[in-house]
Formats: sequence, structure tokens, C-alpha cells
Amino acid sequence: MRPGILHHSRYLYHHGMVLSGISFWGRTLRCVLEDVEKAVKGQRGLLLNGRSVHDPFVYLKQSCKMRPMCSSSAVSKGIAAIVGVGPRLGRSIARKFAHEGYTVAILSRDLGKLSGYAEEIAREAMAQVFAIRIDCASTQSVREAFEGVLSLGYVEVLVYNACAPTSINPSRFSDVSVDSFQTALAVSAVGAFQCSQLVMPGMVERGKGTIIFTGSSASLNASAGFYQLSCAKFALRGLAQCLAKEYQAFGVHVAHVIIDADGLTGTSRTSKENQVQNGMDPDAIAQTYWHLHIQDKRAWTHEIDIRPAAS
Ligand SMILES: NC(=O)c1ccc[n+]([C@@H]2O[C@H](COP(=O)([O-])OP(=O)(O)OC[C@H]3O[C@@H](n4cnc5c(N)ncnc54)[C@H](OP(=O)(O)O)[C@@H]3O)[C@@H](O)[C@H]2O)c1
Repeated sequence: MRPGILHHSRYLYHHGMVLSGISFWGRTLRCVLEDVEKAVKGQRGLLLNGRSVHDPFVYLKQSCKMRPMCSSSAVSKGIAAIVGVGPRLGRSIARKFAHEGYTVAILSRDLGKLSGYAEEIAREAMAQVFAIRIDCASTQSVREAFEGVLSLGYVEVLVYNACAPTSINPSRFSDVSVDSFQTALAVSAVGAFQCSQLVMPGMVERGKGTIIFTGSSASLNASAGFYQLSCAKFALRGLAQCLAKEYQAFGVHVAHVIIDADGLTGTSRTSKENQVQNGMDPDAIAQTYWHLHIQDKRAWTHEIDIRPAAS
């Protein structure tokens, strides 16, 4: 028995990937894990497709392989990979694409929270949602996470939404550490560069794909004291423009969304601490991401800014 196999997130962490779709060959992940737990306690044997399986690890692996992600609808639509999923915009975008029938991979660092979102979205949208751990500041983590994503199928949509946490208070230039500056650039720009590089060949090969980057008002206007955020978002915008100019001729739609808001409201599903008075509704913003994805290629938007009516 490999260590950690029964610990949900640890098992999945070991394998760089959490599987939290609504069904594994018609069964929930929870059921599969319960079977394994009972087998390890000697309470029951494991049966897969009518055959007895002795190694719980093999059982889990095979169950995962048997999930119906290779159904024709999933294959014809591909995967929507949302990088940087938290309680606000990332979750809303994932939910929107899941509701529209996509198999969705959601990625960020906190696997516990991510698994919760995956289960919630999968249940609501009756979709397959896979939670995969990623740290966008680490090139190795990004590479491993995308091995997991690409093992699910081809990526049709990449939304890059991750951003290093930013203080709402400005910092004096002399107080900004080189490390924090580098991390901000790594998360917002280097991670976006690497994720795009990993999915682009497949999109070019199929002559089709959408990459959407999340920017902010700091993408256009740098403010005193917000060195990390402004420089990171400027770099992301530059990346979006370069990619659009090189790849839209190959059928890949690259868009940059500038969210001009001081905060995003919670939705009914968001806890009180995440609610911001008069902020933008992330579900409403997610509609725009969807519209960008389904735009007619004869009239693509490269950049769009969104702000609340009362701003
Ligand atoms: N909130 C606003 O008011 C606002 C305004 C304008 C623009 N935006 C932009 O909108 C995007 C989403 O912001 P949001 O506030 O709505 O957050 P969100 O989508 O709810 O969550 C984003 C998630 O990114 C993840 N993340 C942070 N660092 C990461 C890293 N190194 N690797 C992987 N994932 C990482 C965090 O999860 P983990 O901690 O689990 O990794 C975080 O929860 C950001 O790009 C932000 O700049 C937000």
C-alpha cells in the first residue's frame, strides 16, 4: 500500500492531479475512494468491470481511466483549463464553461479548496470538473500540472487568471523586495507564458483554440506603490498582444480582459468575507469570457475592458 493513498488530497497531490468529476464510469469519486478504504480495512474486495483487483492503487488508476471523459461530447469539445481558481472570478469562469458543456480543469495551489469548488461545480452543472494543483511561480509545477491537464484530452480553452496576492495598500519602492517583485512577474507573466506554450501546439494543430488572460486596471495604468501588480499585469498584456499577432492567423483567439474594478462581489455562493460592496459580479464577468470564446472568428475582440455601471 503506497503511503497517502487514502488521504484524498494527498493521493491526488502525489499524482499532480485531483479527479473530482461527477462520475467515474458512472460512480462518484467519493464512492471509489470509499471502496478503496473498505478494501484496505479488509471489509470488502475490489471489483472492476466484474474482475477482482487486489492492488487499491491499480483500482484507483483504472477507475480514473474509466471515467467517461472520452465520451464523444468531451472529445469534440476538448478541455477548458482555468488557471488561478479561487472563490471569485476563477470559480465563476469554471462554472460558466461547465454549464456550457465543457469538461473543465481548474488549477491553483490550494488543493483542498479547489476540490470543494470542483465538486460544487460538477454537481451544479452535471459536468466533469478536475481539480489540479499548480503553483504558477514554479516552472516545474506548471509543467507537471499541464501533463495532468493534457492527459484529460486536448485543451480547447485556456483562461489564465492567476495573480500573486496584492496588498490594497501601496508600498514604498524601497520596501519592495526583489523576491516579491520576481514572484509577481512569475505568477502573472511567466506562468501565463508557459501555460500558453504548453497548449499552443495542440491549438495550432487543430486550427482552433481560445486563450484568455485576465488583466486589471493596473494593466493600463501603473500607480505609485503598486510595483509588483502593475509590472506583472503590463507584462501579461504584452504577452497577450504578441500571441494574438502571431497566432490568430492559425485560428487561435487570444484575448485580454481588463477588469476595471476595486473589488468583485460575492455571489450567493460566495462567503460573506469575499463580498465587496458595489463590486462587480464575477458571474457577470464570466459571461464575457464565454462570449469571447464563441465569437465569430471574422470579428474577434483582442482586448475588452469591463467595469460596473456605477463607476
Ligand atoms: N478581485 C478584484 O477586485 C480584481 C479586480 C481586477 C482584476 N482582478 C483580476 O482577476 C483575477 C482573479 O482575481 P479574483 O480576485 O477574482 O480571484 P479568484 O479568481 O477568486 O482566484 C484567483 C486564484 O489564483 C490563485 N493563485 C494565486 N497565486 C497563484 C499561484 N502562484 N499559482 C496558482 N494559482 C495562484 C489563488 O488560489 P491559491 O491561493 O489556491 O493558489 C486565487 O484564489 C486576477 O488576475 C486579478 O488580478 C481582480
